[in-house]
Amino acid sequence: MRQKLIAGNWKMNGLKADSQELVAGILSGLRATPVSADILICPPFTLTASVAVAVQGSPICVGVQDVSDAPKSSGAYTGEISAEMAADIGATYAIVGHSERRAMYGESNTVVRAKAENVLKAGLTAIVCVGETLEERESGQALAVVGEQVMHSCPTQTDGTNLVVAYEPVWAIGTGKVPTTADVAEMHASIRARLNDLLGHEAAERVRILYGGSVKPANAAELLSVSDVDGALIGGASLKAADFLAIAETQK
Ligand code: PGA
Repeated sequence: MRQKLIAGNWKMNGLKADSQELVAGILSGLRATPVSADILICPPFTLTASVAVAVQGSPICVGVQDVSDAPKSSGAYTGEISAEMAADIGATYAIVGHSERRAMYGESNTVVRAKAENVLKAGLTAIVCVGETLEERESGQALAVVGEQVMHSCPTQTDGTNLVVAYEPVWAIGTGKVPTTADVAEMHASIRARLNDLLGHEAAERVRILYGGSVKPANAAELLSVSDVDGALIGGASLKAADFLAIAETQK
């Protein structure tokens, strides 16, 4: 049985004061209504350390939204932050290859895999994001495009426990649009099949596959009940404690 993972991706949002309030709200909500899923918050780098301190002793884990693809964990790479540095300040997960990074910062599958490998080497769990554009979906390419991304951006040195794949259709991110549950089921089964090719059956069965893209309290229960959906990666709704908690609380 794969444990569900409910992950918040704050993106480039959050200053010290409002993040303290948001974390306090999530902590008190989870104390009042414990959930069975793993809960993860991925604030921007500037807040990683303070959020990690704030959630100490609670069931909440902290992750980062990116790490460097540099071949070394320290050295002359101005502006970069290594997976080892993220681990050092309390992160246990790292998102890599989010579609915003692929589209706006030109990250290729090769770069994403190098980042994911660095994440695993530092002892963290990698959340590798994949997903098709609207054009690719409408031209019938979605399964092929995402399959390629899985095969070329996931690390292979894993038994599956420290790898998470997040399926996030680009056209669903921040738009309020979500695929049908049939389309989500088809894609997640296809991702699992590609992981099987890449890692072998046992490891592939352990990898959690999240759905991301306009997950809200109103659609979370339905999306999270789809077969092979092992959790959610949540952007906008993770910035409001009540919404994030309502999504988490679908997993009692
Ligand atoms: P969204 O973002 O929930 O705001 O659509 C999801 C994501 O980009 O991870």
